[in-house]
Amino acid sequence: MGSRSRGGSGSGLLIPFLLLSLHCSPVLVSAAGSGEPYVGVTIGTAVTNLLSPSDLADFLRAQHITRVRLYDADPRLLSALASSGARAIVGVPNDELLALGSSPATATAWVARRVLPFAGVNSSTPNVISAIAVGDEVPTALPSALPVLLPAIRSLAAALAAANLSSIPVSTPLPFSVVLDPFPPSQAFFNQSLAKSFIAPLLGHLANTSAPLMLNLYPYYSLMQSGGVIPLDNALFRPLPPSQEMVDPNTLLHYTNVFDAMLDAVRVAVRNLNVTAGGGVPILVTETGWPSYGDRRAEPYATRDNADAYNSNLIKHVLEDKPGTPMAPGAAAQSSAYIYELFNEDLRPGPVSEANWGLFYGNGTPVYLLHVSGAGGFLGNDTTDRSFCVAADDADEKAVQAAMDWACGPGRADCTAIQPGQGCYLPNDVRSHASYAFDAYYQSQGRAAGSCYFQGAGMVTTTDPSECPCPLIHFHSPCSTLNSLAFRSSPSVMIELL
Ligand SMILES: *[C@@H]1O[C@H](CO)[C@@H](O)[C@H](O)[C@H]1NC(C)=O
Ligand SMILES: *[C@@H]1O[C@H](CO)[C@@H](O)[C@H](O)[C@H]1NC(C)=O
Ligand SMILES: *[C@@H]1O[C@H](CO)[C@@H](O)[C@H](O)[C@H]1NC(C)=O
Ligand SMILES: *[C@@H]1O[C@H](CO)[C@@H](O)[C@H](O)[C@H]1NC(C)=O
Ligand SMILES: *[C@@H]1O[C@H](CO)[C@@H](O)[C@H](O)[C@H]1NC(C)=O
Ligand SMILES: *[C@@H]1O[C@H](CO)[C@@H](O)[C@H](O)[C@H]1NC(C)=O
Repeated sequence: MGSRSRGGSGSGLLIPFLLLSLHCSPVLVSAAGSGEPYVGVTIGTAVTNLLSPSDLADFLRAQHITRVRLYDADPRLLSALASSGARAIVGVPNDELLALGSSPATATAWVARRVLPFAGVNSSTPNVISAIAVGDEVPTALPSALPVLLPAIRSLAAALAAANLSSIPVSTPLPFSVVLDPFPPSQAFFNQSLAKSFIAPLLGHLANTSAPLMLNLYPYYSLMQSGGVIPLDNALFRPLPPSQEMVDPNTLLHYTNVFDAMLDAVRVAVRNLNVTAGGGVPILVTETGWPSYGDRRAEPYATRDNADAYNSNLIKHVLEDKPGTPMAPGAAAQSSAYIYELFNEDLRPGPVSEANWGLFYGNGTPVYLLHVSGAGGFLGNDTTDRSFCVAADDADEKAVQAAMDWACGPGRADCTAIQPGQGCYLPNDVRSHASYAFDAYYQSQGRAAGSCYFQGAGMVTTTDPSECPCPLIHFHSPCSTLNSLAFRSSPSVMIELL
């Protein structure tokens, strides 16, 4: 499902590197090293005028990003990272798999050249490398290389062990599409043509070497492919009223978000393989994210609001929510995740959204601001944790009117300002008035879960309502000021720890 179709490419365009570190937050002390969950960022390099390695390292430091995933093992970047304190998953590009998988000597040479200089062997340099990702989405991106993938992983792990570096795990990021029938999670299973031949032996090896099962996991694509079955809010980690929650009919577990459902689907698929050791293999989400812009018709969910909501809520979910998933609760089962991706890769071909997954433009200017106050970082003070409730774009006018009547009546929202003659009466139309009333109610409830539902007529937004007909009651300044605020902050503010 979620393949970004990075294409097996040989294009050499992809080189990610980074990780968000939340080291100032009590929960996140030392994202590197300890078992605490963390959020990192992938760094793809199909970017016009990419920052130089040293500028990139400075940028990461300024943004408090301490975990990154690179799609190759560029020594210039790794040297720069060594000075920034960040740790990186390095990648073996798909087009190098054949060589590594067919010759252990080549794997040994790769480790010597790409890994050893950055692995902290000499105490003067820290270990920059947190893991090795061998290939990317090989079953879908380059199926012809599948037969050499596990041999390549074994050879690299053996070469690391010979260098006393078996603490660096070796694995391969799989596309979520290898899991079939993932919803409800209890019915999931691995694609049979891969299960016995590839995934079962892979899991055995990962368990033996204490390496994680790496997965690229995109609720965005699940939503796109669900044909309306998955509610947008569920994909964005937004609470639904209990009656609307996804319930797995076989386990009766409630899923408040698609991300957890996908993780549990993977767990079920692993269990169904009957690999004794497989159950103990932790899952590492090597890519997840949401595009902020796309084709208006074909990619309607690719918006800044949705990207902000997804990535902000993901960060809170990984770092703050009750750890684990409905099927596997508890800290030990918490998956860390890498946000795809740091920069908009403007040079990537394909649908419009392909070039719009980044948190930043290539020059370091934020594409949008995350809203994660209280999650230990990422944002300047005064833009944090703001969300608004407005009339949903797709709700019909009758439903909007009925919900407004409820909000201003039984809901006891203060609707004085939208009465005739009052400050927010104009523009005098149902949607503007309803947006005012919905937000007044939502704010009065402390933005509590479900308080912007209104039978589907309400919609949470993290962007200031763009028309902003008049200052809503909780605003401290007029609309014009608010609208400029979001774009004014310097990049270094975006991920500043509070
Ligand atoms: C570690 O340092 C020694 C002595 O400075 C040097 O000979 C060796 O190549 C270094 N090893 C690595 C992996 O950088
Ligand atoms: C690995 O560690 C062992 C014991 O800790 C040591 O004897 C050996 O020389 C080390 N090998 C390498 C390649 O550093
Ligand atoms: C299962 O995997 C095979 C081989 O990669 C592929 O051809 C097939 O389309 C997959 N089946 C499904 C239902 O995705
Ligand atoms: C795991 O390790 C055991 C014991 O060393 C070995 O017998 C087994 O073959 C290994 N399994 C895999 C899948 O590597
Ligand atoms: C796993 O075991 C169950 C019950 O023993 C069996 O029905 C199922 O076919 C097995 N699955 C695989 C992939 O071997
Ligand atoms: C955050 O607060 C600090 C100190 O109060 C202030 O100097 C800084 O300008 C604020 N940041 C933003 C983005 O307003």
